Amino acid sequence: MRAYMPAGLYAPNTAVLQDGDLTLRPLVPEDGRHFEALLAGDEAGIAMTSHLPYPLSAQQAREWIVLRTGPGGHVFAVLDAKGQFLGSMGFGGPKDGVPGFGYWIGKAFRNQGIATRAGKLCVAHARSLGVRRMVAETFPGNEASYKVLRKLGFKDAGPVDRFYPLRGGARTLNLHILEIV
Ligand SMILES: CC(C)(COP(=O)(O)OP(=O)(O)OC[C@H]1O[C@@H](n2cnc3c(N)ncnc32)[C@H](O)[C@@H]1OP(=O)(O)O)[C@@H](O)C(=O)NCCC(=O)NCCS
Repeated sequence: MRAYMPAGLYAPNTAVLQDGDLTLRPLVPEDGRHFEALLAGDEAGIAMTSHLPYPLSAQQAREWIVLRTGPGGHVFAVLDAKGQFLGSMGFGGPKDGVPGFGYWIGKAFRNQGIATRAGKLCVAHARSLGVRRMVAETFPGNEASYKVLRKLGFKDAGPVDRFYPLRGGARTLNLHILEIV
Protein backbone atom coordinates (compact mmCIF):
# COMPACT_ATOMS: atom_id res chain seq x y z
CA MET A 1 0.00 0.00 0.00
CA ARG A 2 1.44 3.41 -0.97
CA ALA A 3 2.90 5.23 2.06
CA TYR A 4 2.52 8.91 2.77
CA MET A 5 2.40 10.87 6.00
CA PRO A 6 0.33 14.06 5.80
CA ALA A 7 1.63 16.45 8.47
CA GLY A 8 -1.94 17.53 9.25
CA LEU A 9 -2.65 14.08 10.63
CA TYR A 10 -0.31 14.71 13.56
CA ALA A 11 -1.73 18.09 14.60
CA PRO A 12 -3.81 17.96 17.81
CA ASN A 13 -7.45 17.18 17.16
CA THR A 14 -9.38 20.32 18.11
CA ALA A 15 -11.93 20.19 15.28
CA VAL A 16 -15.67 20.52 15.80
CA LEU A 17 -17.60 19.20 12.78
CA GLN A 18 -21.23 20.02 12.17
CA ASP A 19 -24.04 18.95 9.86
CA GLY A 20 -27.38 20.42 10.88
CA ASP A 21 -28.38 18.90 14.23
CA LEU A 22 -25.36 16.56 14.29
CA THR A 23 -22.10 17.64 15.97
CA LEU A 24 -18.78 15.84 16.19
CA ARG A 25 -16.37 17.11 18.85
CA PRO A 26 -13.07 15.57 19.98
CA LEU A 27 -13.55 12.54 22.21
CA VAL A 28 -12.18 12.94 25.77
CA PRO A 29 -11.48 10.31 28.45
CA GLU A 30 -14.53 11.40 30.48
CA ASP A 31 -16.66 10.14 27.58
CA GLY A 32 -15.89 6.66 28.90
CA ARG A 33 -19.07 6.90 30.97
CA HIS A 34 -21.11 7.33 27.77
CA PHE A 35 -19.44 4.26 26.26
CA GLU A 36 -20.48 2.30 29.34
CA ALA A 37 -24.03 3.67 29.30
CA LEU A 38 -24.61 2.91 25.61
CA LEU A 39 -22.49 -0.17 24.99
CA ALA A 40 -22.18 -2.09 28.27
CA GLY A 41 -25.22 -4.28 27.53
CA ASP A 42 -24.61 -4.53 23.79
CA GLU A 43 -22.58 -7.70 23.41
CA ALA A 44 -23.44 -8.10 19.72
CA GLY A 45 -22.43 -4.51 18.95
CA ILE A 46 -19.13 -4.78 20.83
CA ALA A 47 -18.42 -8.06 19.02
CA MET A 48 -18.31 -6.05 15.78
CA THR A 49 -15.42 -3.92 17.10
CA SER A 50 -11.80 -5.07 17.28
CA HIS A 51 -10.57 -3.60 20.56
CA LEU A 52 -13.49 -2.91 22.93
CA PRO A 53 -13.87 -5.48 25.72
CA TYR A 54 -17.13 -7.10 26.76
CA PRO A 55 -18.34 -6.55 29.40
CA LEU A 56 -17.26 -2.90 29.21
CA SER A 57 -16.66 -0.54 32.14
CA ALA A 58 -16.24 3.23 32.00
CA GLN A 59 -12.61 2.82 33.09
CA GLN A 60 -11.86 0.37 30.27
CA ALA A 61 -13.51 2.76 27.84
CA ARG A 62 -11.37 5.64 29.15
CA GLU A 63 -8.25 3.58 28.49
CA TRP A 64 -9.50 2.80 24.97
CA ILE A 65 -10.07 6.53 24.40
CA VAL A 66 -6.65 7.59 25.72
CA LEU A 67 -4.94 5.16 23.34
CA ARG A 68 -6.81 6.60 20.36
CA THR A 69 -6.71 10.33 21.02
CA GLY A 70 -2.94 10.95 21.03
CA PRO A 71 -0.95 12.30 18.04
CA GLY A 72 -2.38 10.99 14.78
CA GLY A 73 -5.75 10.17 16.37
CA HIS A 74 -8.84 12.07 15.22
CA VAL A 75 -11.66 10.44 17.12
CA PHE A 76 -14.92 12.21 17.87
CA ALA A 77 -17.98 12.08 20.07
CA VAL A 78 -21.13 12.11 17.92
CA LEU A 79 -23.78 14.34 19.53
CA ASP A 80 -27.33 15.38 18.72
CA ALA A 81 -28.75 18.92 18.92
CA LYS A 82 -29.27 18.57 22.70
CA GLY A 83 -25.69 17.44 23.24
CA GLN A 84 -26.81 13.86 23.81
CA PHE A 85 -24.01 11.35 23.19
CA LEU A 86 -24.95 9.04 20.30
CA GLY A 87 -21.69 7.22 19.59
CA SER A 88 -18.12 7.64 18.47
CA MET A 89 -16.30 7.80 15.15
CA GLY A 90 -12.88 8.67 13.90
CA PHE A 91 -9.68 7.80 12.15
CA GLY A 92 -6.04 7.41 13.08
CA GLY A 93 -3.44 4.85 14.03
CA PRO A 94 -1.78 5.19 10.63
CA LYS A 95 0.17 2.20 9.41
CA ASP A 96 2.39 3.20 6.48
CA GLY A 97 0.56 6.53 6.57
CA VAL A 98 -2.88 5.06 5.91
CA PRO A 99 -5.30 5.90 8.73
CA GLY A 100 -7.88 3.39 9.89
CA PHE A 101 -11.51 4.46 10.17
CA GLY A 102 -13.80 3.15 12.93
CA TYR A 103 -17.08 3.88 14.68
CA TRP A 104 -20.03 2.75 16.73
CA ILE A 105 -23.48 4.22 17.34
CA GLY A 106 -25.62 3.39 20.39
CA LYS A 107 -28.30 0.78 19.70
CA ALA A 108 -31.18 3.19 20.33
CA PHE A 109 -29.90 5.57 17.66
CA ARG A 110 -29.10 3.14 14.83
CA ASN A 111 -30.71 2.98 11.40
CA GLN A 112 -31.41 6.72 11.28
CA GLY A 113 -28.48 7.55 9.00
CA ILE A 114 -26.33 8.91 11.82
CA ALA A 115 -23.16 6.91 11.05
CA THR A 116 -23.45 7.84 7.38
CA ARG A 117 -23.82 11.56 8.13
CA ALA A 118 -21.04 11.52 10.71
CA GLY A 119 -18.88 9.55 8.28
CA LYS A 120 -19.26 12.18 5.58
CA LEU A 121 -18.07 14.82 8.06
CA CYS A 122 -15.07 12.66 9.04
CA VAL A 123 -14.07 11.97 5.46
CA ALA A 124 -14.28 15.68 4.58
CA HIS A 125 -12.21 16.48 7.66
CA ALA A 126 -9.61 13.83 6.77
CA ARG A 127 -9.38 15.32 3.31
CA SER A 128 -8.78 18.78 4.82
CA LEU A 129 -5.86 17.31 6.82
CA GLY A 130 -4.26 15.95 3.66
CA VAL A 131 -5.37 12.34 4.06
CA ARG A 132 -5.82 10.75 0.65
CA ARG A 133 -6.59 7.16 1.59
CA MET A 134 -8.30 5.46 4.53
CA VAL A 135 -8.93 1.85 5.40
CA ALA A 136 -11.67 0.18 7.40
CA GLU A 137 -12.23 -3.42 8.45
CA THR A 138 -15.50 -5.23 9.09
CA PHE A 139 -16.17 -8.56 10.72
CA PRO A 140 -18.07 -10.98 8.46
CA GLY A 141 -21.81 -10.40 8.69
CA ASN A 142 -21.64 -6.74 9.72
CA GLU A 143 -24.02 -5.68 6.95
CA ALA A 144 -24.90 -2.35 8.60
CA SER A 145 -21.27 -1.26 8.70
CA TYR A 146 -20.66 -2.57 5.19
CA LYS A 147 -23.55 -0.39 3.98
CA VAL A 148 -22.23 2.68 5.78
CA LEU A 149 -18.80 2.21 4.20
CA ARG A 150 -20.29 1.75 0.73
CA LYS A 151 -22.35 4.92 1.15
CA LEU A 152 -19.14 6.76 2.04
CA GLY A 153 -17.39 5.49 -1.10
CA PHE A 154 -15.20 2.75 0.42
CA LYS A 155 -14.47 -0.11 -1.98
CA ASP A 156 -14.29 -3.75 -0.97
CA ALA A 157 -10.62 -4.81 -0.91
CA GLY A 158 -11.07 -8.47 0.02
CA PRO A 159 -10.24 -10.53 3.10
CA VAL A 160 -7.54 -9.63 5.61
CA ASP A 161 -6.17 -11.82 8.42
CA ARG A 162 -5.86 -10.22 11.84
CA PHE A 163 -5.20 -11.28 15.40
CA TYR A 164 -7.62 -9.66 17.84
CA PRO A 165 -7.32 -11.26 21.31
CA LEU A 166 -10.63 -9.76 22.49
CA ARG A 167 -12.42 -11.26 19.46
CA GLY A 168 -11.15 -14.79 19.78
CA GLY A 169 -7.66 -14.38 18.30
CA ALA A 170 -7.04 -15.13 14.62
CA ARG A 171 -9.90 -13.76 12.52
CA THR A 172 -10.48 -13.00 8.86
CA LEU A 173 -12.14 -9.64 8.28
CA ASN A 174 -13.15 -7.69 5.20
CA LEU A 175 -10.90 -4.80 4.21
CA HIS A 176 -12.36 -1.64 2.69
CA ILE A 177 -10.38 1.19 1.11
CA LEU A 178 -11.41 4.76 0.43
CA GLU A 179 -9.46 6.85 -2.05
CA ILE A 180 -10.09 10.46 -1.10
CA VAL A 181 -9.95 12.75 -4.11
C1 LIG B 1 -22.47 -0.02 12.04
C2 LIG B 1 -23.21 1.10 12.77
C3 LIG B 1 -22.20 2.12 13.26
C4 LIG B 1 -24.17 1.78 11.78
O1 LIG B 1 -24.70 2.95 12.40
P1 LIG B 1 -26.07 3.60 11.89
O2 LIG B 1 -26.13 4.99 12.42
O3 LIG B 1 -27.17 2.69 12.22
O4 LIG B 1 -25.82 3.61 10.31
P2 LIG B 1 -26.76 4.25 9.18
O5 LIG B 1 -28.14 4.42 9.72
O6 LIG B 1 -26.06 5.42 8.63
O7 LIG B 1 -26.74 3.11 8.06
C5 LIG B 1 -27.00 1.76 8.39
C6 LIG B 1 -27.44 1.01 7.15
O8 LIG B 1 -27.37 -0.40 7.41
C7 LIG B 1 -28.68 -0.97 7.21
N1 LIG B 1 -28.79 -2.11 8.12
C8 LIG B 1 -28.89 -2.10 9.47
N2 LIG B 1 -28.93 -3.35 9.93
C9 LIG B 1 -28.80 -4.18 8.86
C10 LIG B 1 -28.76 -5.59 8.71
N3 LIG B 1 -28.84 -6.41 9.75
N4 LIG B 1 -28.63 -6.09 7.45
C11 LIG B 1 -28.55 -5.28 6.39
N5 LIG B 1 -28.58 -3.91 6.47
C12 LIG B 1 -28.71 -3.38 7.71
C13 LIG B 1 -29.63 0.16 7.46
O9 LIG B 1 -30.88 -0.08 6.89
C14 LIG B 1 -28.87 1.31 6.77
O10 LIG B 1 -28.91 1.19 5.37
P3 LIG B 1 -29.80 2.16 4.44
O11 LIG B 1 -29.29 3.55 4.68
O12 LIG B 1 -29.53 1.67 3.07
O13 LIG B 1 -31.19 1.98 4.93
C15 LIG B 1 -24.04 0.55 13.97
O14 LIG B 1 -24.85 -0.49 13.51
C16 LIG B 1 -23.15 0.03 15.10
O15 LIG B 1 -22.67 0.80 15.92
N6 LIG B 1 -22.93 -1.29 15.15
C17 LIG B 1 -22.12 -1.90 16.22
C18 LIG B 1 -20.65 -1.49 16.15
C19 LIG B 1 -20.09 -1.62 14.75
O16 LIG B 1 -20.45 -2.49 13.98
N7 LIG B 1 -19.13 -0.73 14.42
C20 LIG B 1 -18.47 -0.76 13.13
C21 LIG B 1 -17.31 -1.66 13.15
S1 LIG B 1 -16.61 -1.84 11.49
